[in-house]
Amino acid sequence: ARIEKGGYKHYMAKEIAQQPTVVGEVLEAYVSGDQITMDMGGINFADVDRLSIVACGTAYYAGLVAKYWFEHYARLPVDIDVASEFRYREAPFAPKTIGLFVSQSGETADTLAALRYSAGKVDKIVALINVPESSIARESDVAVEIHAGVEVSVASTKAFTCQLTSFAVMALKAGHDRGHLDDAGLAKHLSELRQLPGLMSHALTIDAATKAIASKLAEARDVLFLGRGQMFPLALEGALKLKEISYIHAEGYASGELKHGPIALVDKVTPTVVMAPHDGLFDKTVSNMQEVMARGGRVVLVSDARAAEEAGDGVWQTLAMPEAPELIQPILYAIPAQLLAYHTAIAKGTDVDQPRNLAKSVTVE
Ligand code: G6P
Repeated sequence: ARIEKGGYKHYMAKEIAQQPTVVGEVLEAYVSGDQITMDMGGINFADVDRLSIVACGTAYYAGLVAKYWFEHYARLPVDIDVASEFRYREAPFAPKTIGLFVSQSGETADTLAALRYSAGKVDKIVALINVPESSIARESDVAVEIHAGVEVSVASTKAFTCQLTSFAVMALKAGHDRGHLDDAGLAKHLSELRQLPGLMSHALTIDAATKAIASKLAEARDVLFLGRGQMFPLALEGALKLKEISYIHAEGYASGELKHGPIALVDKVTPTVVMAPHDGLFDKTVSNMQEVMARGGRVVLVSDARAAEEAGDGVWQTLAMPEAPELIQPILYAIPAQLLAYHTAIAKGTDVDQPRNLAKSVTVE
């Protein structure tokens, strides 16, 4: 069936707005009360020593967040690569490794080639996909669906948050399997995940505020995105979204790397978007932000209201997000990343759903 825009101006706007619903469906599929029901073909993460995650584009950034989660909640070491690098590197695998391939379409040529390279060399091939009939799903031992529904817009939005939500469940399962999370710890984190649909709906109300900021970002030639820890991949994703659809040069950087290069870009006209929820690294991120401001840089602080009040002195623009438990912050902060790019693209008059030179699914090398 043809997918309609359903009253939205663009598929991207519709797909952004669908996120509370589809993320709710992911949780419905994989969590029941205090139990995880995700079928991983009998994999017990207690028997796994390493995960090797491979993907491209936005799916790669979802994998990068997952690395922080698997390492933190399950103490499971994770390697992560972009598929185009991985496929020719002839990477050796340690014993008891699972290969995990993330792809919305399930047809990305480099990711599929990386999967084929890994087959027979790792203990199991797991795919995290949106399209169950896809090549990557068919060639894996275990295919876990992200339940995002059809995604039309070239720039991925709801697939990203559904990949993240599925990964969060998987990382908690790994933590529980490996004895790093007891039943009570698991139950606590599952209840945090259940707050997602409500908090995402709340986060979507920043739409008007992002629009106002985007009208200013549209005048920039370069934009810097910063984040630390599990928010670092969100800085990368924010920069990717902006480049993809507004054609503004953007770079995502780990806040702590700022002084090793990108700070040279800071001047009075280059905006820096800081993704900084109130987490264990908040004070560190704030001090990086102050380094930007000390050089006359304009900071857009994306944070919760309490944190913005504590640290917002001298900030150019603030986007106030709802407060949220640490685990779900990267999922929630995808929304401001997407909305900033979306409204900046509209302000610039670009083709939001079909950006130049890009394809929804890159099926040739
Ligand atoms: C293209 C799309 C991106 C997507 C990437 C990976 O570059 O424009 O939105 O993240 O491919 O696609 P996949 O289907 O493998 O997730």
